[in-house]
Amino acid sequence: MNMEIVKINPLMKVTVLTGAGISAESGIKTFRDGDGLWENHKVEQVATPEAFEINPELVWDFYKQRYQASVNAIPNQGHYALVKLEKALGSNFKLITQNVDGLHHRAGSRNILDMHGNVERCFCTKCRKHFKLSDIDMNVRLPLCSDCHGLLRPDIVWFGEIPYHLDAIERLILNSNIFIVIGTSGTVYPAAGFVMTAKYKGAVTIGINLEKPHNIDYFDHFYVGKAGDLLPELIKQWL
Ligand code: OAD
Repeated sequence: MNMEIVKINPLMKVTVLTGAGISAESGIKTFRDGDGLWENHKVEQVATPEAFEINPELVWDFYKQRYQASVNAIPNQGHYALVKLEKALGSNFKLITQNVDGLHHRAGSRNILDMHGNVERCFCTKCRKHFKLSDIDMNVRLPLCSDCHGLLRPDIVWFGEIPYHLDAIERLILNSNIFIVIGTSGTVYPAAGFVMTAKYKGAVTIGINLEKPHNIDYFDHFYVGKAGDLLPELIKQWL
């Protein structure tokens, strides 16, 4: 592990990947901490296309709760520190997030790729039209499309589905000078593999997490702790 402090200049291309850990201090539960159950469900039981086919009511109930939790949460110092970094770097800063809670958007980050979707949106399984959850009747157990009456589903990338923006993400990773990973356990692919590719392509890789993740070997610099505590100070040092 390299102990030198990284210096970022505005010409460097910086890509950040975030996971559930960055939203933990906003009160959003992570996936794999604690007993491995998520609101008493195994993640796979509510986050697969098969689960939605078998029991769409359960899956919708679950994501309506996630939506309420996200809407009620507020961004924390970790989210705001990344907004500061983006302000310093402009379009050389890109943020890839696995989180669906929308907190980076609400904090004010702009260059965001929501690779796993967004809990504030849904789309029609028949005609693919997208809707905001705030625009549909949430009291209906199974919301239907106002255009074609097809069943709506949460705009979440479930297990077995292909994440969004993979082409753009690949280009970013191949061209990054610095690749920073925050608050993710490094267990869900393809995101867990991004740091390896970035490192092999010559980026300086930096990790921040409450505990050591599975892919720790690919980090040049690693900081153990809470993102909301560490990020504001680290970003001051990097800039
Ligand atoms: P995980 O729950 O797997 O990992 C969260 C990581 O954040 C853990 O390693 C924690 O130790 C760490 N952590 C907790 N609090 C933290 C804090 N305050 N600061 C820094 N780190 C902290 O969540 P993800 O890695 O994001 O996919 O999970 C990846 C994907 O698995 C999710 O996007 C989700 C899930 O299935 C979908 O829903 C499609």
